[in-house]
This record gives sequence, C-alpha cells and structure tokens, in this order.
Amino acid sequence: MHAVEIKPNIYWVGVNDRSTNLFEGLWPIHEVGVSYNAYLIKDKKNALIDISKEIFSDDFAQELSDLIDLKDLDYIIVNHMEPDHTGALGRLREMAPNAKLLGMQKAVSMMNDFYSLTENTEVVKHEETLSLGKYTLKFLYTPGVHWPETMMTYVPEEKLLFSCDAFGQYGALDGFIFDDECQNVAFFEKEALRYYTNIISAFSRNVLMAIDKISAYPVSIIAPSHGLIWRKDPMHIIELYKTWAGYAQGPAGPGITVLYGSMYRNTERALDQTLQVIGRQQIPIEVFNVGITDPSYYLPSLLTKQGVLIACPTYERAMFPAMVRALNMAEIKDIKHKVAAYFGSFAWSGGAMNVFNGFAERLAWDVVGAYQFAGSAKENDLQQIQQIVEQLAAKARKP
Ligand code: FEO
Repeated sequence: MHAVEIKPNIYWVGVNDRSTNLFEGLWPIHEVGVSYNAYLIKDKKNALIDISKEIFSDDFAQELSDLIDLKDLDYIIVNHMEPDHTGALGRLREMAPNAKLLGMQKAVSMMNDFYSLTENTEVVKHEETLSLGKYTLKFLYTPGVHWPETMMTYVPEEKLLFSCDAFGQYGALDGFIFDDECQNVAFFEKEALRYYTNIISAFSRNVLMAIDKISAYPVSIIAPSHGLIWRKDPMHIIELYKTWAGYAQGPAGPGITVLYGSMYRNTERALDQTLQVIGRQQIPIEVFNVGITDPSYYLPSLLTKQGVLIACPTYERAMFPAMVRALNMAEIKDIKHKVAAYFGSFAWSGGAMNVFNGFAERLAWDVVGAYQFAGSAKENDLQQIQQIVEQLAAKARKP
C-alpha cells in the first residue's frame, strides 16, 4: 500500500504480510495476515516511529523514499525491539545514516544485541519530550507491553498515541487503515482478542499499568503497530484490552471452555453425553479438540470464560500430550483463577488426573472435581461425571 496521511504531515507507512504462516514462528496467521505499521512525521526535524520486518525492507524503504529523502531523516523512534518491527533497521540505517536511534535504555542495549548497532543511538526516559518543530514527541515507558524495553510515543498536539503492540490485532489491512473505513470491525475485534491471548496476555498486569499510565493523556487516535488505527472510537479498543487484562487475573465472563482429546473415543463418548448436561444449564460453551486445534484458537475462549472442563485420557501413565501442550500454554500465558474440572479414560493405570491437578495448582484453578475411569465410561461413571460438571456449570455461570 501507499503511505496514508493520518494528520497533517503525519503518515502511516506500514506493510501488509499475507505470506507468513506463523507469527513469532508459533501463531497461525496464514488465513488473515498481519500488518506492521510504522509512522513518519515530517516537520522541522523528521522522525520515523517504528520500522518493519526484515523481509519487507525493500517495500518499506521504497514507501518511505516516496515521502522523504532518507538522508533527511533525523530520528528513528524504536518503541519496541521485537524483530517484526526492527528487522529492517539495518537496511534503513544504511539509507538514513543521519538518523539517530532513540529508545529506552533496554532498547538501546538490544540494538547492539540484535543488530550490533552502537553508533548514533540515544537513551530516552519516561515522559521525556522531543520537539520536532510543530509537533512534540512524548515518550511513555510501558514495560511488558510487550517486552521490557517497550514504550509508546505520544503527540500531544494531535492527541495521537503510537501504542506499538498494545491495542494491536492480527489481520492485513485490505486497502483501509482506519476503524471508520473498515466494513468489518468485528473481524478485527475477534483477531485483537486472538492476538491479545497469543502475544500479550502473559503480561496482563503490565497492560493494566500501561492503561493506567496513558489515562493521564487525552487520546483521539490510537495508532498501534499492528492492525487498524482507531480514530472513530479509540476508547473502545482500550476498554477491550482492559477487560481482557482483567480476565487474565480473574474472574472472567460466564461460560465454559471444553478442551478435550481422545485416542479411541472413550473419553469423547463420555464428553458427548456430558455436553448435554451443560447444554441444559444454558451457559455459553465452546468445545475444542486439542489434538487437531492450534492453541492460538482456544486461548481466547480460555481467557474470556470462567469455567474450564478438561477431558482427555491417560497416555502412558501421564496425560494425553496434546492436552499437556494446552495446559502448558495456559501456564505460559498466565491464564489463572478459573473454576475447573477433569475427567478421562485410562487403560491400565491412571496418570492424567495427577498431571491435571498439578497444572491446576500452579494456575490457581479452583477444581470442583476430577474423575477417571477404566476403558469406556459405564452408567456409574457418567453419573459421577455429571455431578462434577453440574457443579462446574453452577460456578462458571456467575463468576
Ligand atoms: Fe509486534 Fe512484540 O512485536
């Protein structure tokens, strides 16, 4: 896409990525893509805010060169050092040799770590300002959203916040960049939640601190480093992030996420009958087969619903491996304080239930019951499971 002027002499200079399969090498984006947004301010002094991913160095350099002779670039503001935003830094440094790299102390240290860049760098501090002429940049330190060096850059004259990863979303920008131009904002809200749970949720405390910090500044435009720019209703995306960050600490909303895995359908048949019990409770429910579903897609449900039902068999005296992966991801993403239950089949010895209890303890999940049965579930087994699930539904309905 060509650059877009978002305010007088302030330009979006992003690129769309529709060819990467896995964001961070982990998270599927092949169906939706992602944008890497950067911004150029032309003023008495010229500043670029954030950069781009390495594979887009040529596109990015061309996009910038259409607006400015890169030798006239005075500052490159590095809000965040993750290479989806800095991979093109080396190429850009060659083309813009006069530009000073600005970032928080840790960011400047990472410039050396990642790219061996030590010349013409400068550390900025929280709430430090830099006058460009007509416009001022104010740097707001927001550690943990997403890395410890991350900051946001605020332009008080336009109440414009370059928020970096915060308030971002998966999804390429198909010819539009603003929320009020987009015909399917619901899609970006859904992808914002998936992005939040995949990338940000482990740092939810930091998100709440960052939102508190920026509340001191009036905001009319949120310009993140991924996805839509929010100018119609910038508070909307802030409120969504605030809600999700709160869910990570608990309690979340009413509902049950069912994560299941099954080898020969013994656990799955018991689950089918159990789902009818939950269905009668009229409570939101989402069901995921962890054996064939990427964690990227069930983490949003796990974060936003208060109840969790884990159903999987014992696998060689331990837990079904795909479920270990699911619960390990919940632990990495710090999705705590749920109400939870477990059941599953075993062949010659149990094991999965103990593994579940260990995860639940570390995640501070309130376990209403856990049950394992040999082979296929009999009537007595199903009654036991039903009692557990009824308790789970009662607790998950009113967090
Ligand atoms: Fe979009 Fe944490 O980088």
